Amino acid sequence: MRTRKPRVENKIIVVTGAAQGIGFACAQMLADEGATVVLSDIRQADGEAAAARIAAEGGKAHFILADVTSETACANLMNETARHYGRIDGLVNNAGWYPRATLEETTTEFWDQILNVNLRGPFYCCKFAVPHLRAAGGGSIVNVGSLNGIQALPNLVAYGAAKGGLLSMTRTLAGALAPDRIRVNYLIPGWVLTEGEIALHAKNGVSLEALKKGGQGLALGRHQTPEDSAYAALYLLSDEAAQVTGTILNVDAGGSCLPIQPGAPYVG
Ligand SMILES: NC(=O)c1ccc[n+]([C@@H]2O[C@H](COP(=O)([O-])OP(=O)(O)OC[C@H]3O[C@@H](n4cnc5c(N)ncnc54)[C@H](O)[C@@H]3O)[C@@H](O)[C@H]2O)c1
Repeated sequence: MRTRKPRVENKIIVVTGAAQGIGFACAQMLADEGATVVLSDIRQADGEAAAARIAAEGGKAHFILADVTSETACANLMNETARHYGRIDGLVNNAGWYPRATLEETTTEFWDQILNVNLRGPFYCCKFAVPHLRAAGGGSIVNVGSLNGIQALPNLVAYGAAKGGLLSMTRTLAGALAPDRIRVNYLIPGWVLTEGEIALHAKNGVSLEALKKGGQGLALGRHQTPEDSAYAALYLLSDEAAQVTGTILNVDAGGSCLPIQPGAPYVG
C-alpha cells in the first residue's frame, strides 16, 4: 500500500469566524492534515483559546483578531499572515451571522448588519487575500454559503440575499481568477447545531431538544456536524480539487431536494 501524505501539508490557510462552530472544525481538520492555520474571529479570548487547543493537539495554529466587516481589519489579517508565514495558499470565508427576520421585520440597520457580515466580509477577505494567493502561484478560496443562497426561506430575507450574493461572487471570481490558478468554491453546510445556531433558536424560544428532534426528519436521519463541512472544505483546499472551481459543494444531506416543512425551525 502507498503511504498517504497529509492532504494540505505546508499550506498556509486563513479561516475566518474560527473561534467556534464550523470555522473551528475547519481549522482543526486542516491543521490535522498538515496546514498552518491562521484562525481569525471578532472574539479575541475565544479565538486565542481555539488556536491554543489546536496547538496543544500538535497542530500549527495562530490567532489574528479581525472583524470581517472592517476593511482595514481584513487587509491587516491577510498582510500579517503573509508577512509572518511568507505566503497564503487558502482562505475559508466562514464568519457569518444568521438571525431570522421577515421582510416586515427587516430594518435598514438589520439589512446592513447582515449584508456586512455575510457578504461584505467575504468580499474584503477575497480582495486582500488574492494578491497573496496570486504571488504564491495560485490557491483556493472556500466561501461558506447556505442553502438559503439557492433556496428561498421567507424569514431570512437579508441573509438569503447575502448568501445568494456570495454564490454569485463565487462564480464571478472563479472565472476571473482561474488564469491565476486561484480556485473559488461555495460550500453549503446543511443544518448544523453549532453554538451560534443553538443560541439563535434559544432566543426565539426553540429548545435544543426541539432542534434535535427536527434533525430526525432530515433525509439522512440526522443533523449535519461541523466536521461534515470541514471534510468538504478540506477537499476543496487540497490539491485533490485542483480542477474544481466555481462549484457548489452541498453537504445538506439532500435538504435542497425536500419540501420545507411549514413551521420547521430550520435555518440552514
Ligand atoms: N449552523 C448552520 O446550520 C449553518 C447552515 C448554513 C450555513 N452556515 C454558515 O456557516 C458559517 C458558520 O456558522 P456557525 O453555525 O458555525 O456559526 P457560529 O455562530 O457558531 O460561529 C460563527 C463565528 O463567526 C464569528 N463572527 C461573527 N461575526 C464576525 C465578524 N464580523 N467578524 C469575524 N468573526 C465573526 C463568531 O464570533 C463565531 O465565532 C456561517 O457563514 C453560516 O452562515 C451555518
